[in-house]
Amino acid sequence: MPDIPSGSFFITTPIYYVTAAPHIGSAYTTTAADVLARWHRQRGENVYFLTGTDEHGQKVMRTAQKAGKGPQEFVDELVRDEWKPAWELLDIKPDRFIRTTDEDHVRQVQEFWQRLYDAGWVYEGEYTGRYCVDCEEFKSDDQVDAEGNCLIHERPTEIISEKNWFFKLSEFGDKLLALYDEVPDFIAPAGSRNEIINYVKSGLHDLSISRSSFDWGIKVPWDDTQVLYVWIDALLNYTSAAQIFDDPEHFAEIWPPTHLMSRDILRFHSVIWPAMLMAAGFAPPRRVYVHGYLLVGGKKMAKSNATAIHPREIVDTFGADAYRYYFMKSIPFGSDASFSWEHIQAVYADELANNLGNLASRVAAMIGRYFDGVLPSPGALTDADGEIADALRNAAQRADVAISNLHIHEAVGYTHDFVTRVNGYITEQEPWKVAKDDSPLARERLATILYTCAEALRAVAVLHNSVMPTAMAKLWDSLGATQTLGALDDQPLSSAAEWGTLPVGASVTKGEVLFPRIETEAAPA
Ligand code: MSP
Repeated sequence: MPDIPSGSFFITTPIYYVTAAPHIGSAYTTTAADVLARWHRQRGENVYFLTGTDEHGQKVMRTAQKAGKGPQEFVDELVRDEWKPAWELLDIKPDRFIRTTDEDHVRQVQEFWQRLYDAGWVYEGEYTGRYCVDCEEFKSDDQVDAEGNCLIHERPTEIISEKNWFFKLSEFGDKLLALYDEVPDFIAPAGSRNEIINYVKSGLHDLSISRSSFDWGIKVPWDDTQVLYVWIDALLNYTSAAQIFDDPEHFAEIWPPTHLMSRDILRFHSVIWPAMLMAAGFAPPRRVYVHGYLLVGGKKMAKSNATAIHPREIVDTFGADAYRYYFMKSIPFGSDASFSWEHIQAVYADELANNLGNLASRVAAMIGRYFDGVLPSPGALTDADGEIADALRNAAQRADVAISNLHIHEAVGYTHDFVTRVNGYITEQEPWKVAKDDSPLARERLATILYTCAEALRAVAVLHNSVMPTAMAKLWDSLGATQTLGALDDQPLSSAAEWGTLPVGASVTKGEVLFPRIETEAAPA
């Protein structure tokens, strides 16, 4: 298996069906990808972050019909009014927002399938089976209940009988098993990996890749009476955006991607997608990582579900930084969780307003009061000061390893724990008491304590930047770091823990309150 080209990081999310506005479930994957992209960028890597929308197929077509609109008009409006603004609201900045109706995607998808057809991987056949339009998937008997309802959507499947084109997926079982074996973290976490290994071992069937009963899709290049099955169109968004045929050099630079999703679409990404790539002679993705579901009433939150929560409802109260922090830190990346207003409110108050926000404002206030807002030069370090520098090194190192393992919650947690540690240090050192003594020795000690705190905050801004870019830029500014060290986004993570980076003499100002107190008791109505 080829390694990731060194220094490159290509991160992808599923492309979401444009049948309704996004909800916090779709935002969860996209936020995580944005955090990873920002972290890797701060490592100095060549990062490409891709997200977008899945616009073809029966599900989108029928939803548009119900809305009384043509499918193109329907998706154009939703993408413009809902999907792109939601990512802007959350400070999510992809390098490309791909749409499966984009011309370069359509063209490269046709070229891909034409190649597979020419190479003999596609044949014509008849198929009769149960189809779930919500999943856009043919279902086997173990995927429906006794009445033929889809187990995921709990809605009836449709029996479809058509003459279709088929991809010889059944020939890829051994190659896929070899891939899972050679790259043990290709599918993670382990439970998902085992499930797919068992599934592939049980035998793969060929895949119907075209549909003739409707035309909202990409035309089969060698048969214009059919459109490509929506999934084999959508799964090629990653190669289209990487410009597989349009710019092979760019493709070679960034391929293969790290892909995030939840388990609903794992088979598509860990079986069909790599098999298609292998058939065409391209490398499979680097890894596919399954995070948990956000649940409502114990079930996966879905667009078709009336209880879907729009990210705006939460951002309006807590802001985008706290939103990102809450979802990234409070839910182990890989576990299911239920969103709760009480929980986000508690995390906001305890971890952001009290722990981090208070630390930042206290330190700036004391440097203002005792040193006229000019960062003082530290004296000799005591053990207590040295322990803070050690704790920082530890946190930075562990966070970086956690990010490599896609344990985002742990990475954010290490920085949070470090903030708690610094608050403990202030409580122990009692700078307000030291300030009462104006002997040279006490002044020096006060300077050392406050330098230690400011320097710790400097590192916290760097480490938390990928999660809370707006609040951390404010903190960075208040430490006078923009003038002395340059933009926060340009600070390399590799030297985040280098003690003594914040220059003495920096102008420290109190700045805006990072996490203002929120008055509401619980959920907004
Ligand atoms: N269009 C397909 C994906 C094609 S990718 C080639 C699709 N779209 S979707 O809109 O249904 O998005 C599914 C994905 O959205 C999940 O795999 C996950 O990444 C995210 N989530 C949607 N609901 C979610 C939750 N309730 N919880 C966590 N993530 C969820 O499938």
